[in-house]
Amino acid sequence: MEIKKVVIIGSGTMGSGIAAHLCNANIPVTLLDLKTEISEKARDRIYKSRPPLLIDKSKINNINIGNINDDFNIVKEADWIVEAVVERIDVKHNIYEKNIQNEKRRCYSFIKYLINTN
Ligand SMILES: NC(=O)c1ccc[n+]([C@@H]2O[C@H](COP(=O)([O-])OP(=O)(O)OC[C@H]3O[C@@H](n4cnc5c(N)ncnc54)[C@H](O)[C@@H]3O)[C@@H](O)[C@H]2O)c1
Repeated sequence: MEIKKVVIIGSGTMGSGIAAHLCNANIPVTLLDLKTEISEKARDRIYKSRPPLLIDKSKINNINIGNINDDFNIVKEADWIVEAVVERIDVKHNIYEKNIQNEKRRCYSFIKYLINTN
């Protein structure tokens, strides 16, 4: 399966790190968090990171940003969804349920959903 678009839910340490690696691999990614300002700060952190997370800083525009309330529908276009929210089972369940509802509408396999947890 070719991965052309990725959505990462949660733009903290894990989410932003994964976004940077995908960006390096030329895969467009959207970072969603509770507020767009949080994912915007994450993208800024990636850009300014030292040592640099990005091989080529000009690729920063491969990372789009948004929030889970206004922009959640973008998951419908994603080939891979990465959940990287806080280590709270209720929050993770909530996101999972929201994704399942989208997938049911499309009758897709759920193999493309990665859950990040300790
Ligand atoms: N940091 C690590 O080294 C590490 C290693 C392995 C696994 N993990 C796991 O990865 C997951 C993320 O860890 P982290 O260190 O990146 O956490 P973090 O606290 O750095 O980031 C979590 C992000 O999730 C966001 N968030 C909270 N609720 C949300 C919601 N409902 N929707 C969207 N975003 C939401 C927060 O605003 C925050 O930006 C956790 O489950 C953690 O246990 C972390």
